[in-house]
Amino acid sequence: MNVDKGYVDAPIDSSVDLKKEIVRLKHEKKAVILAHYYQKEDIQDLADYIGDSLALAQIAAKIDAPIIVLCGVNFMGETAKILCPDKKVLIPDINAGCSLADSCPADDFEKFIEKHPGHKVVSYVNTSAEVKALSDVLVTSTNAKLIVESFPKEEKLIFGPDRNLGNYINSVTGRNMLLWDGACHVHEQFSVEKIIELKKQYPEAKVLAHPECKKTVLMLADKVGSTAALLNFAVESREKEFIVATESGIIHEMRKKCKDKNFIPAPAEDSTCACNECSFMKLNTLEKLYNCLRYEMPEVQVKEEIAERARRPIIRMLEISESLGM
Ligand code: 13P
Ligand code: SF4
Repeated sequence: MNVDKGYVDAPIDSSVDLKKEIVRLKHEKKAVILAHYYQKEDIQDLADYIGDSLALAQIAAKIDAPIIVLCGVNFMGETAKILCPDKKVLIPDINAGCSLADSCPADDFEKFIEKHPGHKVVSYVNTSAEVKALSDVLVTSTNAKLIVESFPKEEKLIFGPDRNLGNYINSVTGRNMLLWDGACHVHEQFSVEKIIELKKQYPEAKVLAHPECKKTVLMLADKVGSTAALLNFAVESREKEFIVATESGIIHEMRKKCKDKNFIPAPAEDSTCACNECSFMKLNTLEKLYNCLRYEMPEVQVKEEIAERARRPIIRMLEISESLGM
């Protein structure tokens, strides 16, 4: 079986009950399925664990299973592989990239670091393994503030690749980190004007926004946080209505956990597209997941030399997070 297309394109008999077969194969192979909140709903429902990027890394680091199927994007698969070099890490469609990670090519980031000697390098986990290997510590949107604050105030820091998250962390920590000029194509698209319009329609609604959104969107937010933080806020809040400015996949878990609340996806600038969906995340489908488990392909590979250098800043992130009770 080849994976030239980046996924196993084997025919599936129409009589196959995909969900049942995925569960059967998973048990047979002692595989564990991890899924990010932005995955398609049917994949989220089948996963053994669902979480934000920090939780997925933490679970991968601890899990006792020979096979991890990472239903998310490539950088999440690479992080799991770097943490578990002896496990087979599979991803249903290896084409699941990330526009934010792509906005920071390792060669250019290395030159940027060289131009600014004396800086420690803090990188968002949404990066290639090569960029991670150039970093002193990794962060996710859940722990970025606390990890940045763990550096002495006078320490000079470079932050990459997300300028919106970097600006947000600078504003809440009073730091002046040098920022790489990258962004996520989904989070950059949310429209301030349309959110203001929605607020008029739903005056009681609270605005939830991921820190990858533009500053003008974050200024409208009642809560800024990672996918997990936004979910927790919705669960714990006494409010009943929320406008959600992050990838719309998270709304599935929000609705499951808060049956009596109303979640409204924030619109993008261009109302003709489903721009609040991450096309990379949505490349993974039930069919690809089934074939991935069946043939144990495609497998995430990270060159050992890169993995060795990238492991240190990821482990540093996990250790700091654990020490902070995250
Ligand atoms: P979280 O770390 O909040 O899950 O975000 C991941 C991501 O890709 C955001 O676009
Ligand atoms: Fe990357 Fe944006 Fe998709 Fe998250 S939503 S995986 S940052 S492209």
